[in-house]
Amino acid sequence: MPHFIRGQIRIAYDDVGSGAPVVLLHGFPFNRSMWTEQSEFLKNSYRLITADLRGHGETNATEQPATMNDMACDVCALLDSLGIEKATVGGLSMGGYVTLAFYRSFPDRVNALVLADTRAGADTEEAKAGRREQAERALAEGVGVIVEGMLPRLLSAETVGKRPEVVKRLREMMLQTSPAGAAAALRGMAVRADQTMLLPLIAVPTQIIVGREDAITPVTESEKMAQSIPEARLRVIPGAGHVSNIEQATDFGQTLGEFLRWVS
Ligand code: MLT
Repeated sequence: MPHFIRGQIRIAYDDVGSGAPVVLLHGFPFNRSMWTEQSEFLKNSYRLITADLRGHGETNATEQPATMNDMACDVCALLDSLGIEKATVGGLSMGGYVTLAFYRSFPDRVNALVLADTRAGADTEEAKAGRREQAERALAEGVGVIVEGMLPRLLSAETVGKRPEVVKRLREMMLQTSPAGAAAALRGMAVRADQTMLLPLIAVPTQIIVGREDAITPVTESEKMAQSIPEARLRVIPGAGHVSNIEQATDFGQTLGEFLRWVS
């Protein structure tokens, strides 16, 4: 497994294919294996970089909150180490928060953006308190409590009813996250900046994707982003909830493929 060391963090990543670079960032509490289908689909035409964000998968956590800026700086340092000057950068949910933080800090490193099942706004005070409580519970009781709390809201009716293998894969993937990693990310998400004012300033083509049944970052959030970002396209994927890239991998992959051809 390739890895890159940045201070106290050992970042695990995959770098497959060749062509224009595309970085895909996973959600919480997932890991880079969530992009397996998209990497397979696109690697003949593009260079796909997927990394485990700090505290997830094979990348370690620290005791401090893992802020979206920390994660964005990790990604930027990884791109430096790979000699990549500019890339299309995209992420799902928390990966989308990191993508917006990345664009805010490093706009010159971005060719195009992909924002999937995410939102630009910060947490409400109530949501922040909920995250802090969840972080405590993850540390005290294990990550299973977070996973079982999230699962019922994560997926579309079609996925839950007809695709038990997807539910199993996601549960197993989430359970790989350490309690320390989950707690650090929850605390980091709670303090993330409101990026709403950044949206009209985004000067690169942006593909927004959302599952029609996303209960965590609903379609209305994506519509708001699409209205505010000057060069945005929106795809609403039927039969998908919050994890649209796995629930409807082909539809997601084709949307991404068409967008990448358009921006190349
Ligand atoms: C995710 O999928 O990354 C999370 O649901 C994001 C969040 O909790 O806000």
